[in-house]
Amino acid sequence: MLRHWLHYLPSVEGDAAVTQPGGAIRVCFVCLGNICRSPTAEGVFRHLVAQAGLSERFEIDSAGTADYHAGDPPDHRARAAGRRAGITIDGAARPFLRTDFARFDHVIAMDAANVRDLGFMAPSPEAAAKIRLLRSFDPHAEKDAPVPDPYYGDAAGFDQVLELCRTACGHLLEEIRRERRL
Ligand code: 4NP
Repeated sequence: MLRHWLHYLPSVEGDAAVTQPGGAIRVCFVCLGNICRSPTAEGVFRHLVAQAGLSERFEIDSAGTADYHAGDPPDHRARAAGRRAGITIDGAARPFLRTDFARFDHVIAMDAANVRDLGFMAPSPEAAAKIRLLRSFDPHAEKDAPVPDPYYGDAAGFDQVLELCRTACGHLLEEIRRERRL
């Protein structure tokens, strides 16, 4: 019994997520500004988790590798795309912190620049191993495919981001459900 119990103690470095058996599965989506793509992925994933009746089992958040927009709500175009799809996209932008590696089991990046910037921040190989590209969960996406930055584009770009997130988040949820037997 003691051996099992010790298994769930925090690491000395404090950088490994401490997943309790039956505890929350913690997922953080990350983009650059935390006003377009990652709040969209967060809203979409939250929606899918709720549809699956699993809201109690998850903690879902998002953050940016930059702090340009800290405190801002999601871009109005991302919110509008969400409304068109019947998905709530809200929250306040915040920068991703080094300590977030200890708070989350999965750190899900939108593009290769996010992966690189998060990799620089990771305090350990265990922390770095939590970083995955969102579309890598989509078996039909090309290798290293990004969720493209819609910030300088039009409304169609935000609808496309939402659909890419919907597909990839569905596969992410399936993978977590398989791993956790949910
Ligand atoms: P996001 O999009 O990373 O998907 O939130 C951007 C938001 C803001 C900026 C760039 C991308 N910006 O340069 O302010």
